[in-house]
Amino acid sequence: MGVAKELIVSKIKDGTVIDHIPAGKAFEVLRVLGIKGSEGLRIAIVINADSTRFGRKDIVKIEGRFLSKEETAIIALIAPTATINIIRNYEVVEKRKVSPPKIISGLIKCPNATCITRHEGILTTFELLSGELRAKCIYCGMEIPYDEFIDIILKQLGK
Ligand code: CTP
Ligand code: ZN
Repeated sequence: MGVAKELIVSKIKDGTVIDHIPAGKAFEVLRVLGIKGSEGLRIAIVINADSTRFGRKDIVKIEGRFLSKEETAIIALIAPTATINIIRNYEVVEKRKVSPPKIISGLIKCPNATCITRHEGILTTFELLSGELRAKCIYCGMEIPYDEFIDIILKQLGK
């Protein structure tokens, strides 16, 4: 037998494995999920694992938590290459390839105080300009870099 090069992390019984996260983004993924470590969940975080596809990747395994479709969509903003594996009784029962939404509606207020959505009962809508890594309010045209946009989402969702 050769020397194991892999960092061995156990399989989980029930929960979610977020795989193929861009290297170094695992903590941001946990942050958008609102996971601080004090919830009593069993979590494995692997940073800079070998990946045949991407060279390096991060992996997050969360026991006892099953991600919703909304949570999956937000993860896609930070980790567009991620795969969400739902595990039940040790088996992968669902594999979701995330894709960043093109439009985010009604999730956050527009940060522009003079935007019409702040003064009339209009649902906010942001277009994601993925090539430029910016979000754009379709009402006032304000453009927000992704990282700031994610910070705004986290703040407004209270995470
Ligand atoms: N996994 C786990 N616990 C389980 C089952 C799977 O932690 N009970 C993890 C695996 O270690 C892997 C991920 O979930 O990181 C996906 O598992 P699987 O689909 O079996 O692996 P691959 O075929 O390599 O996945 P992909 O094709 O998405 O790369
Ligand atoms: Zn606006």
